[in-house]
Amino acid sequence: MKRTITTLVVAGAVTCAAAMGAAYSGLVNVGADDPHFPAVHAFLAMARDRSIAVRARDIVVPDLQDQALIRTGAGNYNAMCIGCHLAPGVDKTELSQALYPSPPNLATGGIDGDPAAAFWIIKHGIKATGMPAWGKSMGDEYIWGIVAFLDQLPKLDAQQYSALVASSSGHRHGGGESEMHNHESQHGSHATGGSEAHHPAPGVPVPKAHTHRDGKQHVHGN
Ligand code: HEC
Repeated sequence: MKRTITTLVVAGAVTCAAAMGAAYSGLVNVGADDPHFPAVHAFLAMARDRSIAVRARDIVVPDLQDQALIRTGAGNYNAMCIGCHLAPGVDKTELSQALYPSPPNLATGGIDGDPAAAFWIIKHGIKATGMPAWGKSMGDEYIWGIVAFLDQLPKLDAQQYSALVASSSGHRHGGGESEMHNHESQHGSHATGGSEAHHPAPGVPVPKAHTHRDGKQHVHGN
């Protein structure tokens, strides 16, 4: 018995030392263009899903059919989320294609039948994935607005989407809003790729005015 325990302890220590040595030597490629091994990917997905399920289970979901709630969510989603999560009529962006793990297309997936989990994810974000913790700048009621909107999103076509965004009060969530425009109409396609929903490169002159997806003119102050 004693010998078995000693063997297990030594084997454990050797494994830990080997893992530390491999990491310290730079063996792990942290590049976002190098996918995880399938076993590592499956482990991380399980850890994420269980972490969210346990934390979201006691969250009380409000009435997601409330039209005013859905409208506030539309303007905020359009301003803060489409660069990564897309929208009807926006089927790829540079961010959506280049992040790893890739942001799911919420225009087709919506909240996947689990509003409490969606609320928790939007509020707290997901570490080391690019998904921000929006609770740092948005109160719960605005986050529920986005959840209510996401519940409708897969049913909307591009026209209905734009109309709903236009009927909202835009990017507004009670303070803490920063400029996060997509500047889609300011510049043409790149030589390759051709996905345009991003900020212009530093040093590139920005036109004084551009038109947003919802048709509103936006004039820059400088
Ligand atoms: C910079 C890119 C980025 C932005 C901006 C962003 N997200 Fe995400 N989001 C991600 C990534 C990446 C994931 C996937 C994380 C993972 O695989 O664990 C994600 C996951 C999610 C999920 C879970 C979806 C699922 O099916 O697992 C929801 C819901 C979500 N985001 C909502 C939002 C909302 C709402 C906004 C805007 C307020 C937003 N995100 C803005 C990158 C982003």
